[in-house]
Amino acid sequence: MRRRRISILGSTGSIGRQSLEVIEKLADRFEIIALSAGNNTELLNQQIRKFRPKYACANNINEVEGAEHTSLEEICSNKENDIILVAVSGKIGLKPTITAINNGIDIALANKETLVMAGDIVMSLAKAQKANIIPVDSEHCAIHQCIKDASQVDKLIITASGGPFLHKTIDIMKNATVEETLQHPRWNMGKKITVDSATLMNKGLEVIEAHHLFNMDYDKIEVVVHPQSVVHSAIEYIDGSVVAQLGIPSMHIPIQYAITYPARYEGIKSRSFSFCEIARLDFETPNWSKFKALKLAYECGKTGGSMPICLNAANEEAVFSFLDGKIKLFDIIDTACKMVEEHKPVFELSVDDIFEIDNEVRIKTKEKLLRLR
Ligand SMILES: NC(=O)c1ccc[n+]([C@@H]2O[C@H](COP(=O)([O-])OP(=O)(O)OC[C@H]3O[C@@H](n4cnc5c(N)ncnc54)[C@H](OP(=O)(O)O)[C@@H]3O)[C@@H](O)[C@H]2O)c1
Repeated sequence: MRRRRISILGSTGSIGRQSLEVIEKLADRFEIIALSAGNNTELLNQQIRKFRPKYACANNINEVEGAEHTSLEEICSNKENDIILVAVSGKIGLKPTITAINNGIDIALANKETLVMAGDIVMSLAKAQKANIIPVDSEHCAIHQCIKDASQVDKLIITASGGPFLHKTIDIMKNATVEETLQHPRWNMGKKITVDSATLMNKGLEVIEAHHLFNMDYDKIEVVVHPQSVVHSAIEYIDGSVVAQLGIPSMHIPIQYAITYPARYEGIKSRSFSFCEIARLDFETPNWSKFKALKLAYECGKTGGSMPICLNAANEEAVFSFLDGKIKLFDIIDTACKMVEEHKPVFELSVDDIFEIDNEVRIKTKEKLLRLR
């Protein structure tokens, strides 16, 4: 049996490390072509010793040992790959993803920014090049598993855990420390996405991704708060039938689904699912006035063009500032709101335009953030 050849962009991150745990369990089914890190060369070198990729890259490339040095672009141009898992964080994921699609390579997509910044370009390119984009995020992975015939789907229902402040007062949330914000009740993720989960910006960005991945109008994408994170998302068919995907909250399962699709293996499965152990499943409408980020993301998605780019860049800069202890949690969304209000959307964008707008917004956001200190 020929092993599936895979490269992992961002192998030292939360998704990257978990994907290697999945691959370890399926060692006879995968051959790793390349691994990539940002700054964590020490962990990358450990991964190289263990998984023996042919190629590796990192910001400090001279510190990388045991594999041929390469770059993200070269990894994504290498047709030895059957699939590339894009698990880097931030806009750095966009260009390599486009390169891989242009080479007809399938993508297991975790990187959020790719579709938020350039959903139209990426999805139409993937269609033209016949490259599959398999979502890794648990919600989109759930929807991907539920859909049999996309033409008969009437609505997408995306679940949200609600994050650490779901039932906390606005005052508690206003004064939340970085440590409290990073205490996610269900998921163990990178810091940036964990802060976004606390503000529900993450859910808003997921709505934009879902719009592109499943070609669904924003009015037909509903967010429902589900604190247990057992129902990972659902779809409603035109006849009123609802199909949901359930499972224990673990990123291993959607990662494995995405990189083995369309096959399924036991692989990383640690135990069987039991409805009786869960006992209850709760659902509630999001508190739109407390979690303003969600409404903002819907509005930006509906406007389209450069608006989601502005939202993403402003939010990311503000999240970094919050993580550095320089602003309060609510300043993140206030800053993003102001940047969106001031932004005049531009349409028909090239990839270069996208990066230029992203850059401009970041400069202006940083100026605003300085005034908040
Ligand atoms: N974590 C989750 O459960 C989850 C779920 C759904 C979607 N996502 C999305 O998946 C992506 C990754 O999330 P994560 O939580 O795994 O993030 P993370 O833990 O922060 O890891 C990010 C990875 O990207 C690398 N990286 C960052 N900046 C880079 C740069 N400029 N050049 C090269 N590599 C760079 C990091 O390298 P170093 O660490 O070596 O610096 C690391 O390997 C994000 O877009 C996130 O929104 C995550």
